[in-house]
Amino acid sequence: MIRSPQTPREWEHYYQLRYDILRAPWGQPIGSEQTADEKVHQHFSYFDNSNQILGVGRLDSVDSQTTQIRFMAVAEQQQGKGIGRALMEEMENVSKEMGIQKIVLHARAIALPFYEKLGYQLDAPSHLLFGEIQHFLMHKLI
Ligand SMILES: CC(C)(COP(=O)(O)OP(=O)(O)OC[C@H]1O[C@@H](n2cnc3c(N)ncnc32)[C@H](O)[C@@H]1OP(=O)(O)O)[C@@H](O)C(=O)NCCC(=O)NCCS
Repeated sequence: MIRSPQTPREWEHYYQLRYDILRAPWGQPIGSEQTADEKVHQHFSYFDNSNQILGVGRLDSVDSQTTQIRFMAVAEQQQGKGIGRALMEEMENVSKEMGIQKIVLHARAIALPFYEKLGYQLDAPSHLLFGEIQHFLMHKLI
């Protein structure tokens, strides 16, 4: 099931997974996995049958026709099982319901094939995170 975290424990696990996958491997401090404006964005967690969070993603509004997907992460032992795809499809469906026509994202180089498989097109290299992780701007018209 995919839904927003609700209880304090679920929120803790949601941010912990983000931290473990997207920040800890680069020695980044706890707290670096969150932005100051988390409350204004939409949050998606993939729950297994035991209600454990196995994957996360955030959907941000950019303008009336555009959303941006950020902080996509799937637990290391659970990658390659369709969880990332399920999260992306859910965020695309929610975007469609909002009347959105375009989704943008900044993909890490290692995740480019994943997003390409889901129909995202490469626009241009964007920023370098932590001085080493090259990102690429991508988009999909929905
Ligand atoms: C990238 C990530 C979110 C993908 O989620 P996932 O659950 O592992 O991916 P899925 O199992 O849903 O894969 C969907 C499709 O993409 C393919 N795919 C996924 N990752 C891939 C990769 N690195 N290279 C090539 N193909 C890949 C899968 O084979 C699958 O194809 P199929 O449907 O034809 O079998 C996840 O692996 C992850 O968290 N990685 C580490 C953190 C990260 O890089 N996050 C993205 C930051 S931009």
